[in-house]
Amino acid sequence: MGSSVEQNILVTGGAGFIGTHTVVQLLKEGFKVSIIDNLDNSVIEAVDRVRELVGPDLSKKLEFNEGDLRNKGDIEKLFSKQRFDAVIHFAGLKAVGESVANPRRYFDNNLVGTINLYETMAKYNCKMMVFSSSATVYGQPETIPCMEDFELKAMNPYGRTKLFLEEIARDIHAAEPEWRIVLLRYFNPVGAHESGRIGEDPKGIPNNLMPYIQQVAVGRLPELNVYGDDYPTKDGSAVRDYIHVMDLADGHIAALRKLFTDPKIGCTAYNLGTGRGTSVLEMVSAFEKASGKKIPIKLCPRRSGDATEVYASTEKAEKELGWKAKYGVDEMCRDQWNWANNNPWGYKKKL
Ligand code: NAD
Ligand code: WQD
Repeated sequence: MGSSVEQNILVTGGAGFIGTHTVVQLLKEGFKVSIIDNLDNSVIEAVDRVRELVGPDLSKKLEFNEGDLRNKGDIEKLFSKQRFDAVIHFAGLKAVGESVANPRRYFDNNLVGTINLYETMAKYNCKMMVFSSSATVYGQPETIPCMEDFELKAMNPYGRTKLFLEEIARDIHAAEPEWRIVLLRYFNPVGAHESGRIGEDPKGIPNNLMPYIQQVAVGRLPELNVYGDDYPTKDGSAVRDYIHVMDLADGHIAALRKLFTDPKIGCTAYNLGTGRGTSVLEMVSAFEKASGKKIPIKLCPRRSGDATEVYASTEKAEKELGWKAKYGVDEMCRDQWNWANNNPWGYKKKL
């Protein structure tokens, strides 16, 4: 299944949650990969685990560079010594609450970092990018499923960075039509590699549902706060479109292939979701079933800014990228539990 010509891909943020899973798939598909990551929200052990998973031969095709996109010199150093066929741009900060408390940090990191990246790519005539956008650009959608041509709006500074970066991508393409940019709007990425060797390892107390459930299951946290039991949904809890991180990883391969083969791609957005909605309480049950652990819950008021029900229309990605999610919530919970059970304290052992 290797690609016929060995293409060289720069992966920013490749030490992170979605980055590591995508790098494994890229290497398996025959790509050469260079990661740039400042390890702000990740650890080098994650990259070591990627090497272990792909084995010594493919590992030779992976290069790790510790660097920060806010320093143009760090990016320049990479482009000056090798040619990249495309960039997959994951690097960014993603905690909604932190972005509200410290918007300057988010605008500096996510916007300045990305602009530096575009500048350097342009200088070295590398004009293909897959960008990590988010379903957050739909805000609180008026109807569901979310279609790519819905009106876009942001609810918080993190969301604004994604919205601005989408607009910046569209402006760059409008001014210089030779750019090919795929904007991937992820819904709620969860799960882990089936080996249980790589997975999500958030610093501090998790903000997101699945890492929180996982930490309750391994005894790091006492109970899950369920934010809202009075939504107009099947069981009163909010509904999201959870997507297995390995499906997401494969979505990036499909997007890359599209960039390489479709000169008319321009700057195009695709949803990466399953198209199915799952409530918080359904997710808790599915995790209990997969892990055999009871997850104690406490019903709490709604979390401010949360939407009632969000899920993707997946038609465009299916039709144009030839990509469709394979996994359901049972596999997501199975793999998340396998990761948690084997690594209850994440990549680092408990001190
Ligand atoms: P992550 O934090 O695990 O990975 C991001 C990586 O980028 C980290 O390793 C971090 O150290 C690195 N990084 C951050 N700023 C950097 C900088 N200035 N220079 C170099 N490296 C930097 O997050 P993730 O979940 O893997 O998310 C990847 C991307 O997908 C992000 O852009 C995020 O906003 C987006 N996204 C994530 C989700 C989600 O729920 N996980 C949903 C939608 C979109
Ligand atoms: C899911 C549901 C919570 C934690 C966020 C970002 C979004 C995107 C994905 C990056 C909600 C409920 C959660 C908990 C709970 N990220 N919940 N107890 O809010 O859909 O999306 O991550 O782009 O931008 O906003 O994901 O996992 O935080 O929450 O009841 O301890 O779980 O209220 O209904 P969300 P989430």
